[in-house]
Amino acid sequence: MTIPLFDLTGKVAVVSGAAQGLGQATAVALAQCGADLALVDRNLAGAETVAGEIRALGRRTLVAGTNVSDPNEIADLFRQVDRQFGRVDFLGNIAGDGHLAQPEDLAIEDLHRVFQNLVIGRFAMCQQAGRRMLAQGAGSIMNIGSLASSTALGRGHIAYSMAMGAVIQMTRELSTEWSHRGVRVNCVTPAQVVNPSLAARMQDDPTLEGRFLKGIPAGRLGDPRDIMGLAVLLASDASAWITGAIIPLDGGNLAMNAGGTPGHQQHVVQTFRAESE
Ligand SMILES: NC(=O)c1ccc[n+]([C@@H]2O[C@H](COP(=O)([O-])OP(=O)(O)OC[C@H]3O[C@@H](n4cnc5c(N)ncnc54)[C@H](O)[C@@H]3O)[C@@H](O)[C@H]2O)c1
Repeated sequence: MTIPLFDLTGKVAVVSGAAQGLGQATAVALAQCGADLALVDRNLAGAETVAGEIRALGRRTLVAGTNVSDPNEIADLFRQVDRQFGRVDFLGNIAGDGHLAQPEDLAIEDLHRVFQNLVIGRFAMCQQAGRRMLAQGAGSIMNIGSLASSTALGRGHIAYSMAMGAVIQMTRELSTEWSHRGVRVNCVTPAQVVNPSLAARMQDDPTLEGRFLKGIPAGRLGDPRDIMGLAVLLASDASAWITGAIIPLDGGNLAMNAGGTPGHQQHVVQTFRAESE
């Protein structure tokens, strides 16, 4: 039984990146609380699998292989949502890709690609959902940013950081424009949540996990399921006065301002120790 404050029965949620990771966890959590789901992912087979899990809960689903970098495909997605559900109450704007390159080597085409995906694509999703929510007079958008939205990461994250910085300003602008018309817009900024690409990077560099953990007071990396409660809160009327917020989901990382991992970190720590001894 769902607590009435968090009951999403009758609401329709559009969630991108729904085939795995944070998107999958968000979609399942919303369905568990009663929402019907449009599951969006270029990994159509993966999204279909998650849809099966959600239909088993008794919810309705739509599955779309939309590339969220393409505003035309996004417009088509929302036309499908209109036809199948006739409303949009929540957007989980989650799918996204990074690109690693040192600033001096970053190809401008790659920078454009990252911006097309994380900035233009996220905005186009907000715009399509927002138009419908404004017409309804109600709705909630959860953009996914990153700890890279507000702290520098180093390790070749220049393109990703620049784009994720834009995502939090997009969130603040949209909230300021839309919240008096019933549409709330918030941004969740995770620290390291284990997903297949992060797991591969940690396998390639055995020191990486330890360096991440130095920045996480809670003492563990994130699990995709860590977003479930927050997603339900933001989709429900329980968060009616929360808008324009940038919400860390980071085990305390931002509080200790520990986002980045400069290459010379070990050297600095050793020098400091030597000087204090
Ligand atoms: N995992 C982390 O540590 C972390 C931290 C901060 C922010 N984020 C951000 O959170 C979001 C989700 O991360 P995750 O860990 O769940 O990732 P993930 O790689 O586990 O899942 C991403 C999903 O999005 C889909 N996808 C990617 N690009 C797409 C596109 N252009 N169109 C349609 N589908 C697309 C993929 O197929 C995949 O199913 C990303 O935007 C990521 O940058 C992740």
